[in-house]
Amino acid sequence: MKIKRKDILGIEDLAKDEIELILSTAESFKEVSEREIKKVPTLRGRTIINLFYEASTRTRTSFEIAAKRMSADAVNISVSSSSVVKGETLRDTAKNLEAMNPDCIVIRHFSSGAPHILSKLVKCPVINAGDGTHEHPSQALLDMLTVKEKFGRIEGLKVAIIGDILHSRVARSNIYGFTKLGAEVRVAGLPTMMPYGIENMGCRVFYNMEDAIKDADVIMMLRIQLERQNAGLFPTVREYSRLFGLDAKKLERAKKDVVILHPGPVNRGIEISSDVADGKYSLILDQVKNGVAVRMALFYLLLGGSRE
Ligand code: CP
Repeated sequence: MKIKRKDILGIEDLAKDEIELILSTAESFKEVSEREIKKVPTLRGRTIINLFYEASTRTRTSFEIAAKRMSADAVNISVSSSSVVKGETLRDTAKNLEAMNPDCIVIRHFSSGAPHILSKLVKCPVINAGDGTHEHPSQALLDMLTVKEKFGRIEGLKVAIIGDILHSRVARSNIYGFTKLGAEVRVAGLPTMMPYGIENMGCRVFYNMEDAIKDADVIMMLRIQLERQNAGLFPTVREYSRLFGLDAKKLERAKKDVVILHPGPVNRGIEISSDVADGKYSLILDQVKNGVAVRMALFYLLLGGSRE
């Protein structure tokens, strides 16, 4: 089975039925990771390149594990040890990788739109593993899979996304995804962290966290990007945490069966307290587990491997 598109560049481009196809395919791949021998021959002989211009733990590792569990050859290129540090451009990097005939390139880049440029330079499928402040589609897909597993549906749920919406590619992809699947999406944060016109994406905007999480089925906390702390977006980390950090006290206002997501890496004690991050409502490690299945599904649907 194949999806009728060359690349996965963002959730904005995907139709509802394509998202549903990816999620159901991911569900079917989950059991592979539970086997003693965690390998299927689906992509034997295929070559997948992970090209990461930014740091990553979860995304890079799970794309690599997904490729290996499908018997593909996975090659990781860390930009800090590549010829990019000698000044090689993205175009030249793409053309040189293309000359080695890969079957798929996964790219994370600090510039919004870099995966779109790469997709025009290479014949093989390109998967966006996070581009600047634009999109992180595989993260949103694993988030949707985690919520769907928990509630059995996404339609009709209330999803509150809290934090630095302005700089969050995770937030953008999730707003597109959850609204396409019929959820009510709320975003909450300081006015300095809220993109102008965000409500045009179909979400409700809150500047008070307590109002946003009231009646929510899902609370998605975003990483506060400490590297931007000097940009004057908020007075102090402590002040930010008091207003938009999730702790046990704020959680008292939420629904009794609420679930908590966080894409990671977590700043413990800042956007989320340790007891909440590790507590009974947290699905943070389920998200990580589902990341492998979602990435297997993306490879399968783009590369058209055979199921044996
Ligand atoms: N969620 C996520 O993108 O984490 P990494 O930066 O570790 O890949």
